[in-house]
Amino acid sequence: MANLSTKYMGITLKNPLIVAASSISNYVDKIEKAEALGAGALVIRSLFEEQIQHDAMTMQDFLERAANISPEIQSSFYPPVEHGGPREHLMWVEKSRRAVSMPIFASLNAVNPGTWIEYAKQLEETGIDGLEINYYMLATDPDIPGSEIVKALVEIVAQVKDTVSIPVAVKLSPFYTSTAYVIAQLEKAGADAVVMFNRFLQPDIDVEAEALSNTMAYSTPAEMKLPLRWVALMYGRTKLDMALNTGVHTGKDIAKAVLAGASAVQVASALMQNGLPYISTMLMELQGWMDEKGYDTLDDFRGKVSQKNIDDPFGFERAQYMALLMSQQ
Ligand SMILES: Cc1cc2nc3c(=O)[nH]c(=O)nc-3n(C[C@H](O)[C@H](O)[C@H](O)COP(=O)(O)O)c2cc1C
Repeated sequence: MANLSTKYMGITLKNPLIVAASSISNYVDKIEKAEALGAGALVIRSLFEEQIQHDAMTMQDFLERAANISPEIQSSFYPPVEHGGPREHLMWVEKSRRAVSMPIFASLNAVNPGTWIEYAKQLEETGIDGLEINYYMLATDPDIPGSEIVKALVEIVAQVKDTVSIPVAVKLSPFYTSTAYVIAQLEKAGADAVVMFNRFLQPDIDVEAEALSNTMAYSTPAEMKLPLRWVALMYGRTKLDMALNTGVHTGKDIAKAVLAGASAVQVASALMQNGLPYISTMLMELQGWMDEKGYDTLDDFRGKVSQKNIDDPFGFERAQYMALLMSQQ
């Protein structure tokens, strides 16, 4: 039977299926179940600085309103109560880490440069095996050029790497002008891996209500083509490990990701739609495909269909796009 083990961020995983940051990590029993069903690793949902700021402000507002009602209430809140900051999340990460033996990664989304460092250090102290930087900035300020945004990301990664000794992955947005440049800069900054790509929920408009409508929509398998192309383009051109993310829905999708050059995949939607036992289904399908093809290990075919290794090196670039357009009647 084929050996599915892989190395990601310098850590050996028993297979390349990583449960992506999602609400699956809201429950310890689900984390335990994911391990029992064979997951190679799991990323805990992000620690969001903005969420903490929001909760702290809501609490402060409540305390102030209570204090204005009557002096008795004010005294009942004395000495002043303070919001615990990231403490609750850190305790959660620590509890999750202790519950299982598979590698557990934390994810951080901060806003202020100082907080990135402070929270990264605190997350490392929970005992996690690695840290995922979930950097997301919606660039709406016409005075800030893209280069500034990349520079800010790279500086944060360099500072986080100086602060922690665990491996660090960067979950990339698919919207950079030059993904290849960003990855090269992250490599120089000391990152260990990139996750390609994060999937952002886009707001919609309800025409009946003529209002904003935010609904949770899972990814579709078609969405895998974008990260697949970029992993295939970057294989052999970066030393960073690549975890392919978005649209991985089957065991054969994992095989595709490895053929393109990925070290691992991250999966959320397929597991949330089909339930955690689907982890075993996906792994069995990957195993079956490898057995059928006669592959013993992932290294036997990793990067086989990357840009570097195919006969037509322009196949992943624009030439293929133009040829396809021309062939349509
Ligand atoms: C319910 C839900 C919660 C998520 N929470 C996070 C999160 O906290 N941090 C993060 O980086 N990504 C989060 N994601 C994004 C996933 O980690 C993943 O990048 C995305 O869903 C694409 O993978 P998929 O196609 O397998 O769903 C979340 C996704 C879902 C569906």
